[in-house]
Amino acid sequence: MFEQIRQQYPLAYNAIKTASERSGFTMASEVLTCSLLKTLAASKPAGKFLELGTGTGLATTWILDGMDSASTLISIDNDETILNIAKENLGVDKRLKLICADGADWIRQNIKQKFSFVFADAWPGKFLLLDEVLGMLEKGGIYIIDDMLPQQNWPDGHANKVTDLLAYLDSRDDLAITKLGWATGVVIITKK
Ligand SMILES: C[S@@+](CC[C@H](N)C(=O)[O-])C[C@H]1O[C@@H](n2cnc3c(N)ncnc32)[C@H](O)[C@@H]1O
Repeated sequence: MFEQIRQQYPLAYNAIKTASERSGFTMASEVLTCSLLKTLAASKPAGKFLELGTGTGLATTWILDGMDSASTLISIDNDETILNIAKENLGVDKRLKLICADGADWIRQNIKQKFSFVFADAWPGKFLLLDEVLGMLEKGGIYIIDDMLPQQNWPDGHANKVTDLLAYLDSRDDLAITKLGWATGVVIITKK
């Protein structure tokens, strides 16, 4: 019962999932994490949302489902082919801006922007430029990362990187942090 999602899935979910499978994209966020993203997104009415690592838009469609009509979402990926799947399925949503760019470049160029919600699902904003992205979070803002539990496909040395990342986040007293040993290992942070 706890691992079941009984609420309606986003309208575009099945189409994106099918297109992702056809394209061979295997990095999509898992559905439990997506459901959590929707729940958290709904806590930020008129929010400014940022997603680093759009992929094919699977998590994006859940975030959009949680957002109200006054909210906006910027989502960034550096792979145009997979970003096009998100564009084809979600491009009509006026709240969404999909940007094909290197995440690190985009962060550096937009460092003064503030966000109420950041889902960092790419290297930049997670293992790279972390302080910069946390600095872009407004007070009370939510920062989410996943894939923190060990996975078979982790390259050598990645486990240490994850351990260091979690230790650093734990050490910051301007953040309230909860680490969930659930789904792929989700970390939820709010800025104090
Ligand atoms: C884990 S996947 C994101 C999956 C996405 N949440 C979903 O549900 O489909 C990570 C994504 O980050 C993108 N990426 C990797 N390096 C990047 C970079 N330097 N800048 C922007 N995007 C990057 C990849 O192309 C990939 O789509």
